[in-house]
Amino acid sequence: MLILGIETSCDEASAAVLEDGRRILSNVIYSQDEIHNRYGGVVPELASREHLRKIDSVVATALEQAGVGIREIDAYAVTRGPGLIGSLLIGISYAKALAYFRQKPLFGVNHLIGHIHAVFLEHEKPPLPFMALVVSGGHTSLVYSATDGSVSTIGKTRDDAAGEAFDKVAKMLGLGYPGGPKIEKMAREGRGSIRFSRVKISDGSLDFSFSGLKTAVLYHLRENPATEQTVPGICASFQRACVEALVEQTERALQQYPASAILLCGGVACNAKLREAMSHLARRHALPCLIPSPRLCADNGAMIAAASVACDPVSPLDLDGDPNLRIPAVAERKGTA
Ligand code: KG4
Ligand code: ZN
Repeated sequence: MLILGIETSCDEASAAVLEDGRRILSNVIYSQDEIHNRYGGVVPELASREHLRKIDSVVATALEQAGVGIREIDAYAVTRGPGLIGSLLIGISYAKALAYFRQKPLFGVNHLIGHIHAVFLEHEKPPLPFMALVVSGGHTSLVYSATDGSVSTIGKTRDDAAGEAFDKVAKMLGLGYPGGPKIEKMAREGRGSIRFSRVKISDGSLDFSFSGLKTAVLYHLRENPATEQTVPGICASFQRACVEALVEQTERALQQYPASAILLCGGVACNAKLREAMSHLARRHALPCLIPSPRLCADNGAMIAAASVACDPVSPLDLDGDPNLRIPAVAERKGTA
């Protein structure tokens, strides 16, 4: 069984061929970082235009690297949301056309479920229930996979996503886009001794908030303009505060929901300090901590193909992009929201 997975929800165009739901035959990722770098963030119109230009060659390369022809593909999987609508529609239209032409099933995949399935490409699926922290440029969500197989959002950011905060702070410091890897690199040279105040969610919920932390860095920079000497310390301090916030809420979630494992995924999961801190948390709770290798943490087609096993087949002609596609909260799922 060969699945072609296509991902164009943001600024990466990716296509992958996955065999039997697990074996990656190819996973081509075309990054637009260079295009958006000078703007300090993704410019949606530029992203979709570039996807349109590149999607054909990205898919062709994925097939070529996998050594298969389009006729051998048994099913198509594509990100249907959340994401930038202009970007999503390029991948969706492309996948729909292929599925229709080849008369094969098409699966519309939730991008966040895709990130979670990236974990299973490299690790055995843990027994239910498990807890996943999906942390990327657009999302920061705690997702709980319950014993009955249902998947619910139990906490999410109330404002900026963690990756977005990394990107915005990097922009303030003139480090370029994407900010996460640049801040992480700088932070290696500094000490995290500045105490940036951050919003602590005190209502007992499992939500996150990162905009206060970003503003604290902004105010600090107004009083103390950045210099070559101070940037590493600012990066290390900001990174530490972010990691602490993520670990703190994950720990709170573990106190409320039993879990057999902690999963960490999404672009920010590339961050070594976060990987280390989450592994430490898991050890303290005597749980395995499952994290994909960095290449599979960032947006990629293989995770979308892998997640198609969790989807109902969708009619190709009905499939539409949904920029706000969500994983329902527990209360919504139970009909008590
Ligand atoms: O999952 P992803 O590739 O795209 C989205 O779905 O958003 O995540 C991209 C985000 C960006 O905000 C980027 O700055 C962040 O992940 N990121 C990192 C690191 N590498 C990427 N954040 C912190 N540390 C990193 N090493
Ligand atoms: Zn993502």
